[in-house]
Amino acid sequence: MNLPLRIAVLGSGTGSNFAAILDAIHARTLRAEIVLALTDEPTSTFLTLAQNDHLPTAVIDCGPHPLRTTDASQQAIHDHLLAARPDVIVLAGFMRILKDPTLTTFADRILNVHPSLLPQFKGRHAVRDALASGQTTTGCTVHLVIPEIDAGRVLAQASVPILPTDTEATLHARIKQTEHTLLPQVLSTWPH
Ligand code: GRF
Repeated sequence: MNLPLRIAVLGSGTGSNFAAILDAIHARTLRAEIVLALTDEPTSTFLTLAQNDHLPTAVIDCGPHPLRTTDASQQAIHDHLLAARPDVIVLAGFMRILKDPTLTTFADRILNVHPSLLPQFKGRHAVRDALASGQTTTGCTVHLVIPEIDAGRVLAQASVPILPTDTEATLHARIKQTEHTLLPQVLSTWPH
């Protein structure tokens, strides 16, 4: 029998996708173990979730500017990941742009979950942009991470309706519900 999938998860915020992965592991629908939960936000719910489950964690000071993560912190992220020996790395609401050396070392093994049907609505305001577009459908995407933002190979997508009464918050909450099913599904059939 194969060994459990070794997953490293990177997050910065509420960690609801991380919670969905943990739920799937606990429910045994995903045969995996979390070998590292890494964050740039020491006060995040993401980190609390990992600590509550007594999982290995790392908190990296990525510097004050969200768009300018320092080279030293990119190296620190890489070194923590290398030591954890993950089969797959999941960006689950990680608000930093991941660069080399991590992208090269772990090429084709890094996943991101994004709240739109890529290639539509790339970037940080995907939900707001979908709402402003006037479309009646958006969705979520699990894709491989490459240097170009939100542009790696799509592994899975699911659509979500946009309701006339939606705000950015209500729409994002509905998209996240779908992400919580899609992401563990992709992991349970890894490698792709
Ligand atoms: C999700 O909507 C994901 O698509 C985006 O960031 C959000 C993370 O939410 N990349 P959470 O921290 O998992 O609740």
